[in-house]
Amino acid sequence: MDRPRSATLITRTSPKGVSVTVGQTSPGSEEIVVRNLTKHYKQLRAVDDLSFTVRSGRVTGFLGPNGAGKTTTLRMLLNLVTPTSGTATIGGQRYLELDQPIRHVGAVLEASSAHRGRTGVNHLRVICAAAGLPRERADEALALVGLTPAAKRKFKGYSLGMKQRLGIAAAMLGDPRVLILDEPANGLDPEGIRWMRDLLKALAAEGRTILVSSHLLSEMQQLADDVVIVAAGKLVRQGPVDEVLGSMGAAVQVRVRTPDPAKLTTALAAFQPSITPLPDGALLVTGMETAAIGHAAFTASVELHELTGERADLEQVFLQLTAGKAGIR
Ligand SMILES: Nc1ncnc2c1ncn2[C@@H]1O[C@H](COP(=O)(O)OP(=O)(O)OP(=O)(O)O)[C@@H](O)[C@H]1O
Ligand SMILES: [Mg+2]
Repeated sequence: MDRPRSATLITRTSPKGVSVTVGQTSPGSEEIVVRNLTKHYKQLRAVDDLSFTVRSGRVTGFLGPNGAGKTTTLRMLLNLVTPTSGTATIGGQRYLELDQPIRHVGAVLEASSAHRGRTGVNHLRVICAAAGLPRERADEALALVGLTPAAKRKFKGYSLGMKQRLGIAAAMLGDPRVLILDEPANGLDPEGIRWMRDLLKALAAEGRTILVSSHLLSEMQQLADDVVIVAAGKLVRQGPVDEVLGSMGAAVQVRVRTPDPAKLTTALAAFQPSITPLPDGALLVTGMETAAIGHAAFTASVELHELTGERADLEQVFLQLTAGKAGIR
């Protein structure tokens, strides 16, 4: 299947001029703002006083273990679930108050479904007709997600990855400035995941607001600019990926290989790092920056054959931050 041509295709070549809002909205006007959002199911606090902001022009990863309340939050944003209390707004308005929501917000929740006997293109045309969008949008959206070759095949013959693409195509029909996706990488193969990453980044680069939930942490590390981490319905951490990772700076590990481990250990002793010999003969040093280790070795004339810093990855941060809060409730 083709890679997406360009996310800009949809905005620039729209023949009948679907109302394109690029450049017309003031910065930040399409932000998603969640304030004290709460949803109780009997005793269960599925979402518990959750507040966060999703900025435009960036991809925000909405991360949390199973049952953390991600889907419930996204459904409240889209007015599919009524909050017990609190608010969720898109560009300052609740979803309910949006004029022609399909032109403001595109959503992909769970694997999209369509009439089994309907072709991909017809599925999209039906949505266009219902929403008052020109039918050409169906073809443009299919091209955007690389599904043109399968446009006339029936939905029942689509693979899971093709269904995910069709779901994104449907979400993009109204050329929305805000895109909300719940676990869109589910069922995609590595090529599909890379395709999705490229598409979402391109859409964000056009100034759109992209909120994407996932528990695929490694994928988020490559995709997201910002992360919002939740566990047990509560906010755990939010911020730029780099900052969230940086906050774990103390956990930086450095792999060092030297022909004289004893001499290096002595040279580093003043810095009180933790030094663990590895089975392959290298040393794993924590509590010291890479540069400081290199400098200490140089000063003590210790020969180094390897000096590799390993930053804590999002997976480690995530597990630390959500420790004890994961699990089925
Ligand atoms: N309609 C409902 N009735 C009762 N409980 C519900 C309902 N919807 C969700 N829950 C509960 O709320 C909690 C949060 O569920 P939610 O689906 O939002 O989590 P999630 O973060 O999307 O998890 P996952 O990663 O598994 O998709 C869970 O304990 C779930 O069982
Ligand atoms: Mg979910």
